[in-house]
Amino acid sequence: MISIKSSREIALMKKAGHILANVFEVLEPLCKPGITTNHLSQVAEKVIREAGGIPEEKGYYGYPAAICASVNEEVVHGIPSNRKLRNGDIISIDIVVSYQGYMADACRTFKVGNVSSNAEKLVRVTEECFFKAMEFAKPGNRIGDLSSAIQKHAEANDFNVTRDFTGHGLGKEMHEDPMVPNFGTPGTGPILKEGMTLAVEPIILEGRKDVFILPDEWTAVTCDRKLAAHYENSIVITKDGYEIITKKSEGE
Ligand code: MF3
Ligand code: CO
Repeated sequence: MISIKSSREIALMKKAGHILANVFEVLEPLCKPGITTNHLSQVAEKVIREAGGIPEEKGYYGYPAAICASVNEEVVHGIPSNRKLRNGDIISIDIVVSYQGYMADACRTFKVGNVSSNAEKLVRVTEECFFKAMEFAKPGNRIGDLSSAIQKHAEANDFNVTRDFTGHGLGKEMHEDPMVPNFGTPGTGPILKEGMTLAVEPIILEGRKDVFILPDEWTAVTCDRKLAAHYENSIVITKDGYEIITKKSEGE
């Protein structure tokens, strides 16, 4: 069932989103060669808790850390570790924050030092895919319109989209209906309505779409070891469009 959020619920999700946007501001300049992904997770947890939020990934089905930190060929759910970032890496940091019980979910892929031109392109196209989807984010359109916009832009740039991980509704729960796949057909799927809240998250692959899960039971890695990038925001469908929830508050 797809829930429609009240203005009170949306306000709480926005507060969670402000906290989350601020975490990215703090983490981005830290993504330098020599920094461990554990350090990034610890900093994120501190910033979230000091702002009155909860890092919801920690403990989610036993997930051990406050953030997902997926480096290079890692697609999603990379577990923070003592691994040090190196010049030329790309790192996708995916975070879920709740505030008074309401969730915001976002991911950014940051470049560490100087990255290859294809890595640069992958990161750029992944973000563009999100905004291509947003061209269809308004009442009356369908989830398939967003999905297909993501797939088309990725494939037009000679990349692939994952079939294994999707965007989703969110609110009181981290994952709610509907699913928001990164591939699909225009004019299909649930109809968008004012007050729906969605995490839209293009996960774009430099090479083949196949992934496998490491023995840690979380980290998804590309089978061909080529790069993956991930860009995600939580949005609310408004009367005539959409608003991004996971952004800094006005005036900040
Ligand atoms: N943040 C992820 C998403 O975009 C889910 C993370 S799963 C967790 O849906 F176990 F790490 F929490
Ligand atoms: Co998500």
